[in-house]
Amino acid sequence: QDLEIGIVGSGSMGAGMTLLFSEHGSKIGCYDYDGEAVKQVMEEAKKDSSVDESLVHGFTSLQKLVDAFPKSNSDSDSDNRRVFVLSLPHGKPVDGILDELLPLLEKGDIIVDGGNEWWEETERRQRKTKEKGVEWVGMGVSGGYQAARHGPSMSPGCSPEAWEYLKPYLEKWSAKAPNGEPCVLRIGPGGAGHYVKMIHNGIEHAHLSILCEIRSLLKHQLGYSNDEISSVFESWWKEGPLRGNFLVGIGYKGLKFKDGGGIHDEEGIVEGMEDKVTQDVDKSEGTGTWSTKEIAERHVAAPAIAASHQLRIISADKFERLKVAKNLDIPQPSEAKEKKLDKKAKDELLKTIHSAVYGAVLSAFVQGLHIITRASKDQKWDIQLSDCLKIWRAGCIIQSDAISEFLLPKVEKFGPNEPLNLLRDVPEVAQELAKTYDSLKKVCMIALETDSVAPALSASLEYLKAVGGKNLPTDFEEMELDYFGHHNYDLKRKPEKGHEKGNYHTEFSRTPGV
Ligand code: 6PG
Repeated sequence: QDLEIGIVGSGSMGAGMTLLFSEHGSKIGCYDYDGEAVKQVMEEAKKDSSVDESLVHGFTSLQKLVDAFPKSNSDSDSDNRRVFVLSLPHGKPVDGILDELLPLLEKGDIIVDGGNEWWEETERRQRKTKEKGVEWVGMGVSGGYQAARHGPSMSPGCSPEAWEYLKPYLEKWSAKAPNGEPCVLRIGPGGAGHYVKMIHNGIEHAHLSILCEIRSLLKHQLGYSNDEISSVFESWWKEGPLRGNFLVGIGYKGLKFKDGGGIHDEEGIVEGMEDKVTQDVDKSEGTGTWSTKEIAERHVAAPAIAASHQLRIISADKFERLKVAKNLDIPQPSEAKEKKLDKKAKDELLKTIHSAVYGAVLSAFVQGLHIITRASKDQKWDIQLSDCLKIWRAGCIIQSDAISEFLLPKVEKFGPNEPLNLLRDVPEVAQELAKTYDSLKKVCMIALETDSVAPALSASLEYLKAVGGKNLPTDFEEMELDYFGHHNYDLKRKPEKGHEKGNYHTEFSRTPGV
């Protein structure tokens, strides 16, 4: 059949990519051990008028899939490599396929892992396949199953040679930025591509939390109906600093749904949905956990990303929450006094909320990018920060016009691994956030006064206060640490000659008990 690409895994992402790649004229073999899943993709290809169904071939045997590629695939034939794109849950399923597939391959073949994966696992597999001359590419694919079908944002991490081979395909398949550029770039070597996708998801989690906290505040504390909130989100999506923000866009559309998935509710189906966000860390859903782990291990402050993950964890076990609620007799969220404001004042408040959301969304970008630059430096990946922003301009979940129009032009001039900290190195970014500070504070005050749950918004505010804090409360913490742990401290004044920075210690008196 002279296949060009084999897609391993016929779930919603694999099926989407099969149809997308064939729509662009590539001969695709779709493999799954589950024959029913393959059959379904074949049927979709038949029904889809934009796909030439003769380009799609189904397989339930990996050997047959491999054999359906053109025969010649020697070293000298570097124009004719076999390429396999895996769309599988991370971890064991990927290793299972690798063990089965690798013996069937030859030098020069390429396996692209298009699922989410922990970057060290990607690098382990790269070392393994390298022994055979097979290239393992760790590639983030973002935008969900609809983007997989119509053009995702992609972040491959691989050798320059593998990138050169894959580039024409990936550029054809990818989403296109507003200026027409493809939303795919080689992010770096090793696990760099999967790393950037993981942090993309960390930012995504913060954005999701910011928006759900605001939706709840508007609905339950300020008395807006879901239809009204939908209109507010729609106006943000169409105009202003949140224009083109994907999550705001699907938010306004989703809030309008009155029927769906077994729910009928005139106030919108969201009212009938349980407030639990579970995550199956054994499948594709470990990226929030991994991001949080990275924040701690690399010593980068990203409190909005961490806080959103914590809220998600707390939300997941409702049974436990309800039991705790019986013991923890504290006020539940109440109406805000601002609910009674007149129309003009409420419109003003909406402007404040708009600015607060933008500030929090922007600060999550700053936090995520900071982790990437730190990891890039640690791992010597030489990630160009502007490349991350370029691939996030369209197709992915955190896409927003502010990336093309604000962040990218500010960051483009920096080389790989710099700037490490946007707020330090790009004054315009800090100034932009500073403009939103009062709004964010006002929104957090409403949340505080009404006992609302707003961890990502609060963490965004605390982040700004702390990272730009001329004096933090931590002098007292230093004293206590030195008292009990001989941690040493720096002096505010210039230390005397011979005293290295940080080696001051006081022998505090210590009596048992205190
Ligand atoms: C994307 C999404 C996607 C996400 C999965 C699982 O960019 O398309 O980030 O890859 O990881 O839908 O979601 P969670 O890990 O958040 O559960």
